[in-house]
Amino acid sequence: MPFAHVTGWGMYVPEPVLTNDDIAKMVETSDEWIRDRTGIRERHIAREHEFPSTLGVEAAIKALQVANLAPTDLDLIICTSSSPEYIFPATACIIQDQIGATKAGAFDLQAACTGFIFATNMAAQAIRSGSIKNALVIGTEVLSRFVNWKDRNTCILFGDGAGAFVLQASDKPGGVLSAVMHSDGSGADSLTLLGGGTHYPASEATIHEGKHFVQMDGKEVFRFATRVMGRAVIETLEQVHMTTNDIQWIIPHQANYRIIETAAKYLKMPLDKFVINVDRYGNTSTASIPIATVESIQKGQLKTGDKAVFVGFGGGLTWGAMVIEWTGPIAAKKNVHPEQYRQFARLRSLIRRAIRFIEGLFSRRTL
Ligand code: ACO
Repeated sequence: MPFAHVTGWGMYVPEPVLTNDDIAKMVETSDEWIRDRTGIRERHIAREHEFPSTLGVEAAIKALQVANLAPTDLDLIICTSSSPEYIFPATACIIQDQIGATKAGAFDLQAACTGFIFATNMAAQAIRSGSIKNALVIGTEVLSRFVNWKDRNTCILFGDGAGAFVLQASDKPGGVLSAVMHSDGSGADSLTLLGGGTHYPASEATIHEGKHFVQMDGKEVFRFATRVMGRAVIETLEQVHMTTNDIQWIIPHQANYRIIETAAKYLKMPLDKFVINVDRYGNTSTASIPIATVESIQKGQLKTGDKAVFVGFGGGLTWGAMVIEWTGPIAAKKNVHPEQYRQFARLRSLIRRAIRFIEGLFSRRTL
């Protein structure tokens, strides 16, 4: 049975930065309150012309460059987002078209902030089963568009960004070693975005009632997160007969510094074993774990041979964890340039649209 290794990684955040002081000009809050209660100092916010696919494409190309893998060699793309571009088409399909991953099946997976763990596990399982060889997993968010900038309970928390992993099959042991995925729909009310679905189709009333904004019972989510994070870490470690002594890093979902602190206490682990960057990005939902991973590699923390646990929680409610042995890129015979495929992808997409248009004209005549 092949192993599923993470061989490429990339992140992208939009340039504009929104500081706590900036938010304090919009709602009654302060830099001190936000830092004290969440650990967040600033977050990046997408510009008007940037969408989840825009950020996702940048992160994906970087991940493919690290893996030295051509987009055309991808078999599967899973995009996970709490702020998808549309209900359909899937954001994954938009990214597939823009990077030129002509052979890949692409779909979206929705599990709120736990999405990246669920999606990475699904991609790893597809590789382990032998049905595919190369997969791309993307977490991408423009949650700033769903935030009520008049609600101080939520607007201080979220940021925009994207992260991506390339997973590849290899006979060498390592990569994704274990994973747990959990859900509890009885807690669905604690974290929601209700408007625009079939229960509350967009209408003047839904807009008036603010149903197109993130709504959250902060205290409830806080309690839930602190309850499940530590347990999920132990559970996934036990699956591979490991303890916290066997791992070098924990890379948690970056929602709140105090939640991570509580998990560290529960696990009796020093905080310096946790990768934390919530101060500079806020909660980027599905993108937070890959962004933290990429930064930890850049800082020389996460290295080849290290074992790490990813752990996340979010709306649904959902939570999950995963043990991974970090490997890095598989040695390749020749260099590929994934960014060049992107240029061709634009042209290819235009040509396909033109062909579809012409075919439409002919089929109208024959009908
Ligand atoms: N600035 C100043 N005061 C504030 C602010 C603010 N931004 N927000 C709330 N307050 C006030 C409240 O109104 C309350 O005042 P009151 O006592 O007069 O009623 C007081 O501060 C305390 O409010 P709490 O809600 O008790 O504050 P708490 O310490 O719980 O912190 C927070 C709130 C930061 C939201 C915290 O509960 C939290 O982080 N929860 C988890 C949220 C989370 O992780 N969500 C993402 C999940 S992942 C996903 O799927 C998207």
